[in-house]
Amino acid sequence: MTKLKWEKGPQSLRFGDQSYRVYCLPETDSTNLRLRRWAEGEPPPGLEGPLEEGVCLAAGAQTAGRGRLGRSFLSPRSGLYFSLCLRGEDASTALEMTPAAACAVCEALEEMGFSALGIKWVNDLYYRGRKVCGILCERVGAYVICGIGINLSDPPGGFPPEAGMAGSLHRPDLKREDVLEKVLEKLAFYTDARNGERTRAAYRERQLLNGRFVRCDVGGSTVRGRVTGIGEDYSLQVATPEGWTRRVSSGEVTRVYPEEEQPGEIGLRTAFFDFDGTLRSGDSIVSFLKFAREKGKLSRRALLGAGVCALLGKAGLMSMEQVKTRALSFEKALSPAEREALLREFVARRLLPELFPRGLEAWRRLREEGYRMVLVTASTGEYMAPLSRALGADALLCTPMAPDGRVGPNCRGREKERRMLQWAESLPALIRVDWEGSRAFGDSAGDESMLRLVGSPCAVNPDRRLLRLARAGNWTVLNWAAPTGKKEENNLTERSVDQP
Ligand code: BTN
Repeated sequence: MTKLKWEKGPQSLRFGDQSYRVYCLPETDSTNLRLRRWAEGEPPPGLEGPLEEGVCLAAGAQTAGRGRLGRSFLSPRSGLYFSLCLRGEDASTALEMTPAAACAVCEALEEMGFSALGIKWVNDLYYRGRKVCGILCERVGAYVICGIGINLSDPPGGFPPEAGMAGSLHRPDLKREDVLEKVLEKLAFYTDARNGERTRAAYRERQLLNGRFVRCDVGGSTVRGRVTGIGEDYSLQVATPEGWTRRVSSGEVTRVYPEEEQPGEIGLRTAFFDFDGTLRSGDSIVSFLKFAREKGKLSRRALLGAGVCALLGKAGLMSMEQVKTRALSFEKALSPAEREALLREFVARRLLPELFPRGLEAWRRLREEGYRMVLVTASTGEYMAPLSRALGADALLCTPMAPDGRVGPNCRGREKERRMLQWAESLPALIRVDWEGSRAFGDSAGDESMLRLVGSPCAVNPDRRLLRLARAGNWTVLNWAAPTGKKEENNLTERSVDQP
């Protein structure tokens, strides 16, 4: 039963743990502004005392209604405008108030017979394709002032063109006090921190932008892409055509593209690079063992043992996983700090300076052209991870090493292909690899299946078998390893290796 009366003086309402003190005015400049002034010690005319949590100031019209981003909010007599004072000590409380208010208004109106209300991130409520409610939450000291404006019916003569997408519920018979009381009841639920998860779920469920292609203006820059969801922090998650997921937490959506204009899936042109033999000569694991020996971290005996295992591996008597597990087992005797320092030094002193300059140039050029850059290698992640970060790779597909030191599965041959397809599957919704527009670089016939996945395969420093395949398939053949006659240096320095 409705208790609230519009004409009466201050009235108290209670829903659960939340009490409200409601003041109704026929008209004011802005209910948000009035509460702000009150918080600063200047109560509205006729009222006194300090502002308290739960105070709600409502008006039948506003002469200077305030909207987001410094805009005005048209507030004719045909609407309900009110501001509520809530506690909001920390930034996250303030941040969550807007979605909580949006859910409260939606649910209140639904219970009053309106169906299919939707929320356009972050604070606009839409009904039958028109914006019928705006929300403006502002922090003032320890309080959050939550202002809500609802267009109950169209103003005489309709909304002016400058009101943009404004529309109304088309219900001149709706009583303001009924709507206000219902919204306050729902606000008591949705602003209760204990209901945070329910609020998030309700907000996500009513989100109108899901799956839509949008343009957002974010502090002077623009983000375009497809909305993939709402984050835990209520940020808008946008999958961009460049393949990133951007989390937009401020700013606004300035354009929602009509369904028929929405591009379909976004295809990512990707450049896949093998490492050993393609970007650098030799076997990096062998270089690592030699480096560890030089640094006194690996005994002569252990090095010889690793060599014997490698021979057994070549003869098919040991799997490559076993060979690598055995070869790298010396690391177990190192402290975490020693191991970290050894790996860093190896990447900085050996791997980076030894990259083929022409390979590096190709890598950089493709990255500048907007390709996603992916390293696909049988080397282990321990040193490939800092290396791939130094190169600015978007992904590293390598042979994993478990915490107990076990290595595998070896990322070679068909395993490379499997890992590439798995990576493509893991991309955000509506983003896919444009295999035809992608490129791959490998040096041996073992890279065949990786090269065959893309539209432009490239045999780099190819072994005999790969050269034959390249000729038969009309693939590009490059020789990054061939000496040019002049001293070639790449300009990577130790500083290129990031801190662990
Ligand atoms: C927006 O859509 O940009 C937000 C509009 C918020 C309007 C409400 S009406 C009650 C309160 N008082 C104001 O001056 N603004 C808010």
